[in-house]
Amino acid sequence: MDPAEQNNSPNHVGIIMDGNGRWAQARGLGRSEGHRAGAEPVRVILKAAHKHKVRFLTLYTFSTENWSRSDLEVNNLFSLLVEYIDSETLELLRSGVRLVAMGDLDRLPPQALKALRQAEEITSKNTDLVLTLALSYGSRSELTQAAKTLAIDAKESRLDPNSITQHSLLERMWSAKLPDLDLLIRTGGEKRISNFLLWHLAYAELFFTDTLWPDFGEADFLAALNDFKARKRRFGRTD
Ligand code: IPE
Ligand code: IPE
Ligand code: MG
Repeated sequence: MDPAEQNNSPNHVGIIMDGNGRWAQARGLGRSEGHRAGAEPVRVILKAAHKHKVRFLTLYTFSTENWSRSDLEVNNLFSLLVEYIDSETLELLRSGVRLVAMGDLDRLPPQALKALRQAEEITSKNTDLVLTLALSYGSRSELTQAAKTLAIDAKESRLDPNSITQHSLLERMWSAKLPDLDLLIRTGGEKRISNFLLWHLAYAELFFTDTLWPDFGEADFLAALNDFKARKRRFGRTD
């Protein structure tokens, strides 16, 4: 059955969009062509998520660890990002999508950061769906900097260490405004998390597919939603 007809779609879907390099390699193309081809599924899946009443879609776009790729690949990825934002912002605005960038954003090339900030501003009033791009993002860096600000606040007496709760840490994280993940999809065949949203993944349902990101389409997304729908979530309780 089409999950759009039901009211039980996941509230927050995260996607580790993996496999662009292998997609290109299989066609005798350079890695940059794989990344370019990866923009189309972003458009398709965003539309499908919207249609299926997903309220938060978080895309793992560039990890902290991806900084160790070649300068050529990194520069190419950020120019593609700027191209994507330039061509899509008005469509995001029109379709009710709010764009948010999350991660260690000070490391981004200034041009990319500027484009992101503009798109965030332009779409800031939209409420249908929050599209979060995780950029220069890694959960361990995020948790470490959150712990650091917690320690500084305690040292400077803005916070009583005995009053620290889970929320105290969460509110200092880059991902503070995101709800828990309900469904995580990873394309490209690897069955790992690669430092993505470790906190919010605590009770997420995981869906792995061999499909490479540039080949991932609406039918694949629907298959993941249907799979999610069939899961029995217990959150540590009994039935
Ligand atoms: C995902 O595809 C995109 C990013 C990590 C930026 P990859 O570039 O990791 O593609 P593979 O895993 O080498 O095929
Ligand atoms: C995860 O993919 C990061 C993104 C999709 C942005 P990677 O290709 O970097 O992950 P590993 O290296 O296979 O774990
Ligand atoms: Mg990869």
